[in-house]
Amino acid sequence: MLNIILMGPPGAGKGTHAVWIAKDFNIPHISTGDMFREAMSSGSELGNKIKDVINAGGLVSDDLTCALVKERLSKPDCANGYLLDGFPRTIPQAEAFAKMGDELGIGANLVLNISCPDEVLISRIAGRRVCPHCGASFNVNTAKPKVEGICDECGTALIQRKDDNEASFKVRLENYYKSTAPLLDFYQEKGILATFDGNVDAASLKVELTTLLKVR
Ligand code: AP5
Ligand code: MG
Repeated sequence: MLNIILMGPPGAGKGTHAVWIAKDFNIPHISTGDMFREAMSSGSELGNKIKDVINAGGLVSDDLTCALVKERLSKPDCANGYLLDGFPRTIPQAEAFAKMGDELGIGANLVLNISCPDEVLISRIAGRRVCPHCGASFNVNTAKPKVEGICDECGTALIQRKDDNEASFKVRLENYYKSTAPLLDFYQEKGILATFDGNVDAASLKVELTTLLKVR
């Protein structure tokens, strides 16, 4: 069973690889960032509460985040594997998640960590364009849509994420090094960490990840 946590700094390629892993291995893709963005665009109470923090690049509180993930992991489609993208990202979240995993009988058994140098991350983030309708993601430098500025999947005009600006990216990267990177040791000690070089083209990394996932 594939109970996977996908880790890496902002722009490393978590979302890019999560999409095909979920499809090829038939497991749900659970992205806390996507869940929060959906809450913001629906104008829900949760969305209004978190919008300023997210747009500025800060982290949503551990309590709110863990409650949301617990609810999602309790759904039946997670009983046969899952792919978590962007969670856990603090030590308290990792501890709460370990508890949830025990309670639900679905603890993580593989952590895929995508590493990438800071200067590459910033240029990827600056080039990212996303579809506000279907969530598809593109890049003006490395993953261009067929028609400039238009989503290949649904024809909607592409936008930039509100937190994809230099100031918010700086905060996100600082939070990554301060709060999230320490989790790598935590999972290394558990013997379930596999690190990949993300500073290669996405197709090459896909081959490497597939090789590992197929033998699991
Ligand atoms: P989240 O949505 O998770 O954002 P993030 O971690 O900052 O990561 P990104 O989505 O920016 O990067 P990615 O690794 O997915 O890269 P992608 O594949 O798109 O979180 C957003 C916010 O929500 C957080 O800041 C926080 O506020 C809140 N939040 C979420 N989870 C939380 C939690 N657990 N606790 C508290 N708060 C939380 O790739 C980026 C670009 O690069 C794309 O354009 C892509 O096409 C391109 N690209 C990808 N790979 C390659 C490659 N190999 N070569 C060339 N280009 C590439
Ligand atoms: Mg992402």
